[in-house]
Amino acid sequence: MRIAFFDAKPYDKPSFDKYGAEYGLEIKYFETKLNEDTVELASGYDAVCVFVNDTVNAHVIDRLCEFGVKIVALRCAGFNNVDMKHAFGRIHVLRVPAYSPYAVAEHTMAMLLTSIRRIHKAYIRTRDFNFSLAGMTGFDLHGKTVGVIGTGRIGRVFIDICRGFGMKVLAYDKYQAQGLDNGDTIRYVSLDELFSGSDIISLHCPLTEETYHVIDENAIAKCKRGVVILNTSRGALVDAEALLAGIKSRKVGAACLDVYEEEAEFFFEDFSGHILEDDTLARLISMPNVIVTSHQAFLTEDALSNIAQTTVENIVGLVNNGQCENEVCFRRGQAEDCKSGKCF
Ligand code: NAI
Repeated sequence: MRIAFFDAKPYDKPSFDKYGAEYGLEIKYFETKLNEDTVELASGYDAVCVFVNDTVNAHVIDRLCEFGVKIVALRCAGFNNVDMKHAFGRIHVLRVPAYSPYAVAEHTMAMLLTSIRRIHKAYIRTRDFNFSLAGMTGFDLHGKTVGVIGTGRIGRVFIDICRGFGMKVLAYDKYQAQGLDNGDTIRYVSLDELFSGSDIISLHCPLTEETYHVIDENAIAKCKRGVVILNTSRGALVDAEALLAGIKSRKVGAACLDVYEEEAEFFFEDFSGHILEDDTLARLISMPNVIVTSHQAFLTEDALSNIAQTTVENIVGLVNNGQCENEVCFRRGQAEDCKSGKCF
């Protein structure tokens, strides 16, 4: 099996080399992202391995099929960057549903604590021997209410962490988790009740048509003054312009963003020597109460190892058994074709 691995970073390679060699996969790493301009690189490969900011649109899927590529192996959980309707019946799409919910949930709490206790400011001040405490006043998390939108794997770990801090939880999910609501410290509520009752709001749902801009001007208007918005899920869950307006009007007290609506243009790359073209992102970053990390919530050694192992096992499992439990989009006649060897 020959795999074309797009958007390869140095930290991806050790784990993929290890598991790739173990399962006999030949992996060619491309630093470029997969998109309409780069899809030609996939010619001659059996599968492509892609990440969150690769573009797998209709054109890319058509070209992959023409080249005989049978599998799009996502090395992430979300698949909003794949045109699933177009992929259906044409190409297998596999994903890694969970690699470390702890990595993302812990990063979310790290950003929250950094923000509200001004650690990002203190770090810079003390390096300059400025030991003043002016402007460093934070607030206790204990007794505060956190609104959690999406109570899946990551959302539930984040809830556990918040409960450890003595926080109350208002949860919202389209499909509620059995046994989570205890009628007291953790309660499922409507979105409107979550907005109006939360001191902090954290997003842990996927990006879908329904959740697109779930935090918009209307939502922010319903929130408490000083609300802290945390987004470690997908950028387009938050209307960045509305968030900026909320920060400027002091309605939003702070924002911690590991993801950004237009992040594909910038995240994972070094733009330190350039003028940032995105005015909204530049303005958000300039705010003292906004912390931005560049989609790094997943980035722990544990998660990278789990990602590589599951991605490789997904591909090998599909080839050997004709099915894969982490398949999110089927290729027509896949089981029979795969077993008879016609699939590859
Ligand atoms: P999951 O599938 O376990 O949980 C997602 C939850 O969202 C489910 O409970 C689901 O019912 C709920 N949901 C679906 N539609 C909804 C809606 N319309 N409104 C409210 N809730 C809805 O997913 P997991 O593993 O917890 O991941 C959550 C998200 O985190 C992923 O979709 C992905 O976008 C993001 N993520 C971010 C990473 C990062 O590095 N920043 C890494 C991994 C995931």
